[in-house]
Amino acid sequence: MVEGLKRDAAFAAVDRYVESGMTVGLGTGTTAAFVVARVGALISGGALRDVRGIPTSERTAALAREVGIPLAMLSEARPTLTLDGADEIGPDLAVIKGRGGALLREKIVAASSEKGLIIVADGSKPVALLGQGPLPVEVEPYGWSSTLDALGALGCEPELRLDRADPQLPFVTDGGHYTADCFFPGKIPDPTALEIEIKRIPGALECGLFVDLVRAAVVAREDGVEVTEAPPR
Ligand code: A5P
Repeated sequence: MVEGLKRDAAFAAVDRYVESGMTVGLGTGTTAAFVVARVGALISGGALRDVRGIPTSERTAALAREVGIPLAMLSEARPTLTLDGADEIGPDLAVIKGRGGALLREKIVAASSEKGLIIVADGSKPVALLGQGPLPVEVEPYGWSSTLDALGALGCEPELRLDRADPQLPFVTDGGHYTADCFFPGKIPDPTALEIEIKRIPGALECGLFVDLVRAAVVAREDGVEVTEAPPR
């Protein structure tokens, strides 16, 4: 049932925002996979022409190749816009991303998108306050335990994410980094301030707080798809 809602959100977002001639940032995760499928189907059906994708992970690149989306790198092109999933959608369209393990590349691609980031999600993702679950932070492997201590000093309980296939080992991102999942008992009332604090820690490469990057959220529930757009800047 949730899979159907992810698909509904992804298809609605692609149909509303993606046009021929665009370069599209392609997110990572189970919802973004439906975006890739829809873009691929529209290209092969002839409804979209001259569309290229910039993938945010190796997983997404492989999916995009499977469905026939021509790919580009950021050194060759900038995305017109990016479509991606989220773990939590909070007030003012601030979101948490990265539980799928690709947040650094996702943030680089989203931040370089001319028209910003379109979030696609099922109705379980909107929250009244961010931090209902862990905030992922991508960290440099060198000195990781000291970086986790510094994150803990910000008032959270950080856990090094382990590899699903071999839980004796840390999970390693496409960029060769580790991930700390940070649980904030008091939630995250001020994501802008927390993002600044986290980025002052030398080994913390990037955090999963995406603030002022989201142009719109497309959320699918049983009774339909709702689009929330950020006010023009
Ligand atoms: C990947 O790093 C994440 O940011 C995902 O976009 C996010 O976790 C949402 O994933 P799902 O669409 O699989 O819920």
